[in-house]
Amino acid sequence: MKMKKVLSLLAAGAFAVFAMAGCGSDNGAAPAGDKQAKVLKVGSSIDFPPFEFQDEGQKEYQGFDMDLIRAIGKEMGREVEIQNLGFDGLIPALQGKSVDVVISGMTINDDRKQNVLFSEPYYQSGLTMVVREDEQAIKTFADLKGKKVAVQIGTTSAAEVKKLDGVEVKELNTPADCFMELKAKGVDAVVNDRPVNDYFITKNAAQGVKTLEEKLTAEDYGIAINKDNAELQKEVNAALKKLKENGEYDKIFAKWFGEKK
Ligand code: ARG
Repeated sequence: MKMKKVLSLLAAGAFAVFAMAGCGSDNGAAPAGDKQAKVLKVGSSIDFPPFEFQDEGQKEYQGFDMDLIRAIGKEMGREVEIQNLGFDGLIPALQGKSVDVVISGMTINDDRKQNVLFSEPYYQSGLTMVVREDEQAIKTFADLKGKKVAVQIGTTSAAEVKKLDGVEVKELNTPADCFMELKAKGVDAVVNDRPVNDYFITKNAAQGVKTLEEKLTAEDYGIAINKDNAELQKEVNAALKKLKENGEYDKIFAKWFGEKK
């Protein structure tokens, strides 16, 4: 018993030394003695173009969210370090504090607000549906009765489609998996965020599928923050506000979506 205690104290001591060593290697942009960790640890599910994605053979994560969070980090004077996690693992990662913030096309909703804080909204989105080009039977969401629909696990699409009557829901890991399943005729439709559906269809020249106009929901994206870190929420909101005021937000928006309507 006693030995165990000694060992754990030793381990804690060793950890403290490592932690300090970490500070020492810091490039010094933060004021000396700054208690706050300089690195802003960001979680994202890098499977959601044009918000977060990785081109084949490229190291860097790209997209609207990636540019936005890097700009926010810069504004806050913190280095940004992005971790790629499964979408359904993002809120647990925040709760377990392995990341400080999550930016991942994440919709602000009451369910999630029980577990995390959100920044002010930074993007207006909503859900639409993609079907095969030759699909005749599905023209609106009401037509999904008796059909199979693929959604990304843990998303608002999954929650919303489960509310529809008589729909068989297939929850897959990524939107790309959902589109593959649609093409392979394992499902009749994919429900997913509108800008991502549009991007898949135009940029990936997704052949043999089309997106329908009807919107199932209107949703706002927010940056999620640990529930007990209201201070960080304030800082993120202040940075976001600044970027909206100084035109930086508009620049990033135009880069990925064209000039704002
Ligand atoms: N907006 C939807 C939600 O919050 C989907 C987000 C999925 N994001 C991602 N990076 N795969 O549930």
